[in-house]
Amino acid sequence: MNQTGVLLLSHCGYSFMEELISNVATHSLESFVLSSLPLPANSHRIQELQAKSAWFAVTENHALTWEDVERVMQKLAAQGYSIVCCLSVWEGYRTFMAKANQILGVADIEPAQVELLLNKYELRQQLNQAGLSQVDSVLLNERTWLDLQSKGKSAFVKPVTGIASYATFRLTADKTWQDIEKIQSEIASDLIYSSIFSANRGFMAEDYIPGQEFSFEIMAVDGQPFVVAIHEKVEVDESGSAVLENACVAPPISLDEIQLKKARAWIEPIFQHLQLQWGCYHLEARCYNDHWEVIEINPRVGGALISPSVSILTLGISMTQLWLNNLLYQIDEEQLQQKNQLAKFDLGTVTYQPSPMSSYFRVYFAKPGRIRTIQQNICCLEPDIVQVSLKAGTEVVETVREVFLGQILWAIPENKKNQLLPKLIAESRNTIQVDYE
Ligand SMILES: Nc1ncnc2c1ncn2[C@@H]1O[C@H](COP(=O)(O)OP(=O)(O)O)[C@@H](O)[C@H]1O
Ligand SMILES: [Mg+2]
Repeated sequence: MNQTGVLLLSHCGYSFMEELISNVATHSLESFVLSSLPLPANSHRIQELQAKSAWFAVTENHALTWEDVERVMQKLAAQGYSIVCCLSVWEGYRTFMAKANQILGVADIEPAQVELLLNKYELRQQLNQAGLSQVDSVLLNERTWLDLQSKGKSAFVKPVTGIASYATFRLTADKTWQDIEKIQSEIASDLIYSSIFSANRGFMAEDYIPGQEFSFEIMAVDGQPFVVAIHEKVEVDESGSAVLENACVAPPISLDEIQLKKARAWIEPIFQHLQLQWGCYHLEARCYNDHWEVIEINPRVGGALISPSVSILTLGISMTQLWLNNLLYQIDEEQLQQKNQLAKFDLGTVTYQPSPMSSYFRVYFAKPGRIRTIQQNICCLEPDIVQVSLKAGTEVVETVREVFLGQILWAIPENKKNQLLPKLIAESRNTIQVDYE
């Protein structure tokens, strides 16, 4: 048996494991999987991952610690396995991944850089001081909350370190500091997400950033960032205590060629200032009157169907594949090859080749209540990927985060985009139809 492989960190039995294991296999490498304990309802994931990986371990807790990762690295080495690199798409383990890669001598960003990106308050301060953001921010406590509310300035509240739009909302007159305290106790009891917030960095508020929202899928190779794709969030729902990102299209439809080039150029000084020299990024931003502002910079692939959406645009290479290449291609010649490949996707380069395809995906969220039926309706274009994660009979409880119900991805030939996309955006709202009891 091949004893050489990639260490994959899984959160509660998930984190794109099937996709990552199959990517690793295409490089003739094995997958060594370390997972935190799945929730009781998903204990089947233990057997499933065990069957799919060359080496598997599960911890006793729902969140991995650095000690777990370190122990497994030592164990693998003692058993004669050789780890080429470590990869995790779960944001809570991104620092562990960076630490492991540092030990393995694999080029990746440093753990301290990951920590900075995950701390949205510190990041905003840094960008602000460098003149790369004009948004003011403040750490929240009862006093700063009341102060902001009395000023009546348009502000946005979010956890300093957050994920899945958990507790992200506008600070309006009807909200109180006690709401934050309630949210904090909800977070503490959430088995899947609480570890993300365990750094206990609290909440922050910052100027409300108006405008249209986009995400930039970026790969950095040896100090050079490549924008592989730009997705436009064509529907964002800000009505509840979590901002729901419903539908995305790439390339963007509301930016013309000049605006796209400007957007691409805007990325460059941010990456330079933060010295993000390696790895994969999902940078979220809003644009208003041609002014761009960072929302957040995730040092990982985007969630939902971002990775397969990139695969449509690149005609077959997903974001997770590109990320793995980034970790595996360590010698100069391989890096040069990767740069040449990425340059074709990046509209900021002279070798850019526009894709003949557009991609569109919609994410479906559940409402509180008991699901009676879930049905898939036909619409104007056959989907590429359909994923439904809840079943009839599921009881969905009220929460301040997004609750995934399912997601669908469509590939649209560029020459049919004008005709198909508006129809698809409208029709796809009901492609997954749920009835509640
Ligand atoms: N300052 C802001 N102004 C307006 N909307 C914001 C602001 N910060 C975040 N949002 C909205 O809330 C969403 C979630 O915030 P984000 O910081 O991305 O948190 P998460 O890590 O949970 O994704 C964003 O995608 C955006 O739509
Ligand atoms: Mg976000």
